Amino acid sequence: MERNHLETSSRKKDHIDLCLTEDVSFKKKSNGFEEYDFLHDAATEVDPGKINLETKFFGKKISLPFLISCMTGGTDESFKINTQLATAAQEMNIPVGVGSQRQALENKLYHNSFKTILKNAPDVPKLSNLGAAQISLLKGIEPVKRAVEMIDADALVIHLNPAQEMLQNNGEPFFPNLLKNIEMICSRIDTPVIVKEVGHGIGSFTAKRLLNCGVKGIDVAGAGGTSWTAVELLRNKNITGRNFFHDWGLPTSYCVRTVADLKKKYKFLLIASGGVNHFSETAKALALGADITAQARKLLQTVKSDGVEGVISYITDIFNNVKQIMFLTNSKNLKQFRKNKIIRKKEMI
Ligand SMILES: Cc1cc2nc3c(=O)[nH]c(=O)nc-3n(C[C@H](O)[C@H](O)[C@H](O)COP(=O)(O)O)c2cc1C
Repeated sequence: MERNHLETSSRKKDHIDLCLTEDVSFKKKSNGFEEYDFLHDAATEVDPGKINLETKFFGKKISLPFLISCMTGGTDESFKINTQLATAAQEMNIPVGVGSQRQALENKLYHNSFKTILKNAPDVPKLSNLGAAQISLLKGIEPVKRAVEMIDADALVIHLNPAQEMLQNNGEPFFPNLLKNIEMICSRIDTPVIVKEVGHGIGSFTAKRLLNCGVKGIDVAGAGGTSWTAVELLRNKNITGRNFFHDWGLPTSYCVRTVADLKKKYKFLLIASGGVNHFSETAKALALGADITAQARKLLQTVKSDGVEGVISYITDIFNNVKQIMFLTNSKNLKQFRKNKIIRKKEMI
């Protein structure tokens, strides 16, 4: 069934509400990072005060290897959330994304909820967002250009969400021409294209096909954090007895490790997300080869409970701890940290 902008807006509101009030985490499956440990180096010579976490996001310098994942826009509540997230991103000099702009392309009603990112985070990289269902039906490049221009985006993020669409009431679980259209977009806009999942993971076998289309970034958004099948199972009362899909997907650590291997052949930005919340998980993702880590639901919860300052102190605390791990593994920068600083626990015995 065709979805209209009011239905989209109410769905987006449900998503925010459920992510704030229900436990929509994976139940039995983890992100897999607990299987790894760091290689402690007793002879570290690193000066902890000089560890540098600056990195680049498609040519722009950012202060931490971190981005605020694409989440929202298109509802009354999302204006405030995006304004606060953008303010935190600007203060910290890190990238920030908006949620799917599908509705904004159909209707001007909530444009401000997206544009507030541009207003409040003018100097940091900004991420546009469109979904696979829309991309697969594209007839031309014009809507994509409008989405990018709406927030003067530094990257276009395309989210792939087959499991979510499959369980969503009125979902659209059919993606004809998806790769062909991603390839068309990559060749027709100058803005780099990042492809992400929403919490069920992108493995190397999928990433390779995307990179061959010209994609410049992969955000694995793996299993172990927010489960979008869990969210849709809560929303879709018509579905019973299908809880098997609650825990569907590829664990984030598996995705990061296997997709990082593709760097031998392809040049791209690897983003680790999907339950990468604790500082130890953040550090493990970076040590396994991610260029940047990202978070969504935990930031939504933090901004709602503790506002802009809460988000800033939450992210700052994570990276202060990452620096301590880098000190103890004799890594003075991220490049060194990605070289043999992590090991599977079973190999330590
Ligand atoms: C309230 C909410 C809304 C979201 N909406 C979008 C969206 O519109 N587009 C998108 O690409 N991802 C969306 N996501 C998915 C996140 O970007 C992320 O991939 C996923 O939640 C896994 O990360 P996490 O475990 O840190 O939450 C949303 C996440 C949350 C919490």
